[in-house]
Amino acid sequence: MTQLARFILGLLAALALLTWAVSGVVQTTTHEWFERDVSAHAQLAMVSATRSMADAWYDPDGLQKRLVAIDRNQHVIGVAACNADLTTRSMTPDLPEDFHCRAVGVWVRAAGTAAGDENPKLREWSTIATLPTGRVYVAAMPVVSQGQALGFVILAHDLSYIERREARAQTFLLVVFGALAILAFGVPLLVARRVRHDWSMEVRKLLRKGGKQPREFQPILGDVRELIARMADEREDLPGQWTAERLRQILNRNLHGEKIVILANREPYSHIRGEDGRIEVQHPASGLVTALEPIMRACSGVWVAHGSGNADRETVDRNDHVRVPPEEESYHIRRVWLSEEEQQGHYYGFSNEGLWPLCHIAHTRPTFRAEDWAYYQKVNQKFSDAVCEEVDSEDPIILVEDYHFALAPAMIRKRLPSATIIAFWHIPWPNAERMGICPWHNELLEGLLGSSIIGFHTQLHCNNFLDSVDRYLETRRDREQNAVIMHGQKTLVRPYPIALEWPVRWAEMAPDPAACRVQVWKDLGLKPDALLGLGVDRLDYTKGIEERLLAVEMLLERYPKYRGRFTFVQLAEPSRTKIERYRELNEAVERLAKRINERFGTAEYQPIILLRSHHEPPEVFRYYRAADLCYVSSLHDGMNLVAKEFVAARIDLEGVLILSEFTGAAQELTEALIVNPYDLVKSSDAMAVALGMPEEERRDRMQSMRSMIGRFNVYRWAGKMLVDAAYLRNQERLSGRLAEHLPVSTNL
Ligand code: F6P
Repeated sequence: MTQLARFILGLLAALALLTWAVSGVVQTTTHEWFERDVSAHAQLAMVSATRSMADAWYDPDGLQKRLVAIDRNQHVIGVAACNADLTTRSMTPDLPEDFHCRAVGVWVRAAGTAAGDENPKLREWSTIATLPTGRVYVAAMPVVSQGQALGFVILAHDLSYIERREARAQTFLLVVFGALAILAFGVPLLVARRVRHDWSMEVRKLLRKGGKQPREFQPILGDVRELIARMADEREDLPGQWTAERLRQILNRNLHGEKIVILANREPYSHIRGEDGRIEVQHPASGLVTALEPIMRACSGVWVAHGSGNADRETVDRNDHVRVPPEEESYHIRRVWLSEEEQQGHYYGFSNEGLWPLCHIAHTRPTFRAEDWAYYQKVNQKFSDAVCEEVDSEDPIILVEDYHFALAPAMIRKRLPSATIIAFWHIPWPNAERMGICPWHNELLEGLLGSSIIGFHTQLHCNNFLDSVDRYLETRRDREQNAVIMHGQKTLVRPYPIALEWPVRWAEMAPDPAACRVQVWKDLGLKPDALLGLGVDRLDYTKGIEERLLAVEMLLERYPKYRGRFTFVQLAEPSRTKIERYRELNEAVERLAKRINERFGTAEYQPIILLRSHHEPPEVFRYYRAADLCYVSSLHDGMNLVAKEFVAARIDLEGVLILSEFTGAAQELTEALIVNPYDLVKSSDAMAVALGMPEEERRDRMQSMRSMIGRFNVYRWAGKMLVDAAYLRNQERLSGRLAEHLPVSTNL
């Protein structure tokens, strides 16, 4: 029920109560008036009747005539003349039996006779009686002649007409009150509606027109815009689980079922010819792939990516397409081929020696070379062209992923002006000052502003991006919508923390935790009472792997009870190995593990086990399920989906997550043990706390994190972006339509 309906109902109830109370008072008052009126009238009639009857008392005809004359009055029921001995002298025929001389005489005598009096006297008497026909006023009065009582007269007066009058009076009263109520509430309501209508028309006009608004409307317009934005944000937050099906519905309903084109450097499946000559399908270790692959399964379309597998060329058709996922084909990959030089300049050079260290606070100096920049532009153009070849309408939905393609949105926009382009930046965005280190920061910003929406994991990264735009470009900022307008093109800048599919396919397929533990214990040769810590990463300096191993060393140093018992296994996927810094890291990690093992290890016990190779998801999930703790120690990370995967794997609610405060995930997984990975003492304490945590607390924390990642899953992540995109698209369509009808261009 709306607030207005509740208000009106309340008013009506109050009015009914008031009318009921007033009508009660009025009824009692009118009733008294009428009765008093009737008795006075009857008294008068009686006085004159007794007088005239005394004269005719001994003349039966004359007496009868007088009685009939009195009886003619429409309210008189009957009249009688009675002798002093209570016999009837004369009577009209309609006088009810209850009021005949003998019956009434008893009362007339009783009224005049005191107790013990032997000579009964007659006295005036009256009462109101109720007969089946209605109420009756009965009065009796002695007839006296020359000081002697001859008898008495009875007069019965009809009172039912009083009730009829009262009913009429009440109806009249209700009608008057009703009319007054309608006037009292209806008129102001109509006036208020009119005022509200005029006011909202004015606000709508102002909202549509944009530009300069009258001062008095500015605060309210701000509120309205904020509310609209919040509603747009919350529109899809309808209660209930986000699923692949629900995402499909969003796409069909809001974006008319158009297929999606994803542009991402890393492909979701690569074909690798092994040493035995057989081609195998590999799932690359990439958070981006983990998150986006379920979206493609749900929505279908094309994933445009670099064909990086050594057997990729052998597995495509003549359009460079391959249908995936294997055996459940629902979308296809369009592979783009890059020369050695292009890979070197675009991927290793500008993307991973320039932008990657620029965007992460991990103390590796970014390197920007002009030749890498030239390849970055060339490869962005190459991929943008491939995307434009894959679309099948003038206004497709294109998702541009990550820092490898900062220029692509503007390049695609040039060829497809009506496309909806959603760019997502999977890594942090640095502050404006740091962004200025890149000699081509303006070009990167302009490239990204070709998008309809730019998404980051956190609000902080959105703010850093907006600050960079403010600092380096001439643009207009729409602060209410968190948007940037450049050359008339609006780009929303929003946080969309990335997530996992739910339920996670690999967790569904994995053996139960007890079986995983048995297998992992066997693979690693652990003693039955061993305790296991786990790290899962690409071998990257942003992941804080060295700090993690140092924290393990600190644990063994400060908590000797774990020596010989606690083992930390690190699954480390070699990554970007052509870059010197990554090779250095690989060696540093190896040296560190060796040193710690030498310090605390024995012939049967190794505190650190380094597994440096590619691990397919089933194996990774086996480790997640077997471990007592998982330590994610990134020095800086956009989100980090390993943390979420560990939680997703723990259907048994066991295991403790230790999480770096410098990950995007730390803002969501607040029940993890949050640490500063540079603080080795506190990090080692956190490991000790995790290993000694009571079962109930472990389960509570895990349960709470699982419900969070189940609810805020990747379908919601994509759904939110698509809903925003649809909203923007509608807005643009509307303003485009309006602009067509306007004689001169305005600020639309
Ligand atoms: O974190 C950024 C990112 O692109 C992720 O999306 C992905 O997890 C990782 O880097 C993969 O890097 P690469 O594709 O260079 O192996």
